[in-house]
Amino acid sequence: MSTPNKVKIGLIGLGSIGSHHINYLKTMDSIELVGVCDIDRAKADKFAADASTTAYYDYKELFAKSGLKAVIIAVPHYDHTPISEDAFQQGLHVLTEKPLAVHINDAQKSIDAYEDAKLANPNIVFGIMFQERTLPFYAKIKDIVSSGELGRLTRTTWIHTKWFRSQTYYDGGDWRATWAGEGGGILTNQCPHTLDMYQWLVGVPSKISGHAHIGKYRNIEVEDEVTAYFEHENGMIGHLMVTTAESPGTNRLEIIGELGKLVYEDDKLTLYRNRESMLKYGLETKERFGGVENWPTEIPVNTNAPTGHKVVTDLFVKAIQNGGGELIAHGTEGIKGLTIANGIMLSSFKKQIIDVPFSGDEFEAKLKELIASSKYVKKTVEAEEGDFSKSFSG
Ligand SMILES: NC(=O)c1ccc[n+]([C@@H]2O[C@H](COP(=O)([O-])OP(=O)(O)OC[C@H]3O[C@@H](n4cnc5c(N)ncnc54)[C@H](O)[C@@H]3O)[C@@H](O)[C@H]2O)c1
Repeated sequence: MSTPNKVKIGLIGLGSIGSHHINYLKTMDSIELVGVCDIDRAKADKFAADASTTAYYDYKELFAKSGLKAVIIAVPHYDHTPISEDAFQQGLHVLTEKPLAVHINDAQKSIDAYEDAKLANPNIVFGIMFQERTLPFYAKIKDIVSSGELGRLTRTTWIHTKWFRSQTYYDGGDWRATWAGEGGGILTNQCPHTLDMYQWLVGVPSKISGHAHIGKYRNIEVEDEVTAYFEHENGMIGHLMVTTAESPGTNRLEIIGELGKLVYEDDKLTLYRNRESMLKYGLETKERFGGVENWPTEIPVNTNAPTGHKVVTDLFVKAIQNGGGELIAHGTEGIKGLTIANGIMLSSFKKQIIDVPFSGDEFEAKLKELIASSKYVKKTVEAEEGDFSKSFSG
């Protein structure tokens, strides 16, 4: 029997991440899982039996018959758009997996559908699964950067190469690492988190210079190594270096402001606090070399705070129950990191610097051209299950 204040949720997509979601959904008192859906009937049946709920094989049927009020979308990226559009048309609350979409035109469709749904129900909730924002070090970096204590920001550099993926990984799914199935490589699959975090911390750049290598280290038709240079409205420059081929990988983030330097690497966050503005000092000092006096401090971080997907879903559910409230990430924010991803690829394809905003039509047309001209033959092999949690421990 259902309890009135429990949120009735449906889950679409029961693959790697869907099966992770279902594990914690089963433990949540605040929800009732009224149905699970996968086009793979055997999977839908298995997970429905395991979670004592109903199996659906078509999401439209889940929408029509389960009585759900909210949906979690955990299917491959291209389908995030039509499913979220349909969900909003039905007045459902939506929590979508990252990325919001493959390209910004599709992302805008979901946002438009949400805006339309809001006219009928101003409290409709749209969340996106950017669970990395809950990780304690990133939360602390956000806290420090947002406080303004670094002063005027001059540079952000992120080397994030801890996204190792083997050929076996890429061969393990028919949609993976193809233009038609996935629409991109590391920027579309692994780095939506990195790109979201970048924009969350320091904003979306106004100019993007991207350099992407396609299938450089793995037999794939999408990018597996990317370097990008950014310029921001406020004069800050940025760098991003990512790959799925490096082992051991690096995760080093430097954010430099006139009043200090923040460095995150190897679970250590250090703030080098300048005694005065390095910019002012540089213009006014009679010294020729050296620099400003600074004091390094290792910032204490509460690593015991709850983190991960469940925290995102918990807040999504609370926002539905309370008619609003804080989310880890609002769905509409998903277009920001996607703008950086598409901008990097467009810049790389065109071999020129891209001004933001740029034409979503141009990127979409390029993607369609890549799909139409693809000669890549996908070799799909059954991969061993392994420890899936390693996929989001970058
Ligand atoms: N937030 C995270 O940490 C995280 C981690 C992994 C994956 N993801 C995202 O989740 C999505 C799924 O990734 P995955 O690794 O679980 O993929 P997967 O291939 O392991 O699983 C996808 C599942 O969706 C099903 N499916 C496909 N199209 C469907 C449709 N139209 N209706 C119903 N079911 C459908 C497939 O049969 C499969 O079971 C991707 O967008 C990915 O970026 C997020």
